[in-house]
Amino acid sequence: MLKKALESVISEKESEELISAFDQIGDVIIVRIPDSLLSKKKIIGETLLKEVKIAKSVFYQASAVEGDFRTRNLEILAGEDNTETEYKEFGCRFVVDVENAFFSPRLSTERERIANLVEDGEIVTNMFAGVGMFSIMTAKKKKCTVYSIDINPIASKLCEKNIQLNKLAGNVISVNGDAAKIVSEKLIGKSDRTLMLLPERSDEFLESAISATKSGGIIHYYSHIHADKKTDAGKLSEEHYLKVTPVKSEILGSKIVRPVGPRYYQTVVDVKITK
Ligand SMILES: C[S@@+](CC[C@H](N)C(=O)[O-])C[C@H]1O[C@@H](n2cnc3c(N)ncnc32)[C@H](O)[C@@H]1O
Repeated sequence: MLKKALESVISEKESEELISAFDQIGDVIIVRIPDSLLSKKKIIGETLLKEVKIAKSVFYQASAVEGDFRTRNLEILAGEDNTETEYKEFGCRFVVDVENAFFSPRLSTERERIANLVEDGEIVTNMFAGVGMFSIMTAKKKKCTVYSIDINPIASKLCEKNIQLNKLAGNVISVNGDAAKIVSEKLIGKSDRTLMLLPERSDEFLESAISATKSGGIIHYYSHIHADKKTDAGKLSEEHYLKVTPVKSEILGSKIVRPVGPRYYQTVVDVKITK
C-alpha cells in the first residue's frame, strides 16, 4: 500500500529503495533519501505521514550515525518535530530519542539472542549501553544485575527512565561516563559477561572489557569486518579477535549481526576468557 501511495510521487524502483531504507520507531518514521530524490523530500514525507496511520512525525536522516555518541542529524519533513517516542520490544517499553541518543530497531534479534544466553545470577557489564536496550531486555528475562554504562548523558538519563518504566530498579544500574574509566574505578573483575557494542572501537576498549570480566567469564566482542564473501565474515572476525586479544580465549561462536555497507558487516564473536 505504501509502495502504491509513493508511486504517485516517485517511480516504482525508487519507492522500493526508499521503503528498504526506512525505519519506523514508535510513532516516528525515519527515511534515508538518495540525493536524486532530495527535491521531492517534503512530498515524500507528507505521503508517508498520510499513509502510515500511527505515524506522528516523518524525519529525513540528514547525516550518517557519527561522533562519540553515535547520533545522527534529523530534519523534520512532516508532522510533529518531536524526536522522543515510545518503542516496544519483546514485552519491554522504552523511551528513545531518535536524534539525541543512539537507537536502532535493527538490533532486536541480537538483543533477544543475548538475553537468552544470560543465566540467572549473572553480573553483566554493558559498556556502551545507549538507552539500555540490551540491559533492560536481559534483566527482564533473567534475574541478573546489569551495569549499563554510556558516555552520552541523554542516553544515560533515558536509560534511568526506562529502568523505572520496566520496574527494574536495582537490577539495571545506569552509569554515565567513559566505560574505560568506570570499569577501572568500580568494576574490575566484577562481570560474568561483558558487552562491547561499539564495533568501530572494540580493539581500543578490549583491555577494559577484559579487566571488567572474571576469569571464566564471557565477552561479546562486536566489530566491523570487510569480507568479499558473506559466509567468511564470522571466521574473519574470530581471526581478528584472536590476533588482538592479550588473554587466553576460547571462541564460543561468531555471527553476522547485520550488514553495514557493501561487503561490510557488523559481526559478534562470543569468547570465554581465562586470566
Ligand atoms: C552503537 S551505540 C550502542 C548502544 C546500545 N548498546 C544499543 O544497542 O542501543 C554505542 C554507544 O556507545 C556510547 N559510547 C561511545 N563512547 C563511549 C565510551 N567511551 N564509554 C561509554 N559509552 C560510550 C555512545 O554514546 C553510544 O550510545
